[in-house]
Amino acid sequence: MAHLIAPSLLAADFAHLGRDVKVVEDSQADWHHIDVMDGMFVPNISFGMPVIKAIGRHAQKPLDVHLMIEAPDRYISDFAALGASILTVHAEACVHLHRTLHAIREAGMRPGVALNPHTPLAAIEEVMSDLDLVCLMSVNPGFGGQKFIPTTFEKVRKLNAMRRAANADFLIEIDGGVGAGNAAQLVEAGADVLVAGSSVFGAPDPLEAVAKLKSLTALSA
Ligand code: DX5
Ligand code: ZN
Repeated sequence: MAHLIAPSLLAADFAHLGRDVKVVEDSQADWHHIDVMDGMFVPNISFGMPVIKAIGRHAQKPLDVHLMIEAPDRYISDFAALGASILTVHAEACVHLHRTLHAIREAGMRPGVALNPHTPLAAIEEVMSDLDLVCLMSVNPGFGGQKFIPTTFEKVRKLNAMRRAANADFLIEIDGGVGAGNAAQLVEAGADVLVAGSSVFGAPDPLEAVAKLKSLTALSA
């Protein structure tokens, strides 16, 4: 299976957002990763609907929307209308996770669940067949540019084993501190999608940074 790269627009230059969306479009990247933060579930506030609408006008590649917000059910239909392909909610923010995942699918999007670094994989065990993607946070969510938490490797391996045992087919996405130094190892452990913010937009040549991630993940496929 091909491994996917999803540059995080959180690390883009918001004063030149159209240009940076085009960078992702022109690169070998697969998805746009879009981080929505509400200042409640995480300490930071990023951007909301009007900005995503503007991104959508320049994007052909799928929008992978990562909601770091409380009670995300309130906005499912809004994100569908904005053209989100994948809508990922945090297990820690959903009291009725099963219901939320089904509501996302009914709204025409692919449901994902993100887990904070401390959240056990058991949080998704009973909804594995309702999911298209599990996002393992490899930093505490809220900010770009943080250091990768190394225990993630073992968590990816465990989740990969759970997926195999259940014969499930969701994608495993890793988010936070991902770059050329750990991409190959993550893919070897079982990751399918790598989110990369600062390692792409902070690079002197973002197109080359994406190409490098692509080739590293292809080599270890
Ligand atoms: C963190 C966000 C990430 C972030 C990744 O809360 O969910 O998607 O943008 O940024 P880097 O790759 O810089 O750690
Ligand atoms: Zn994210």
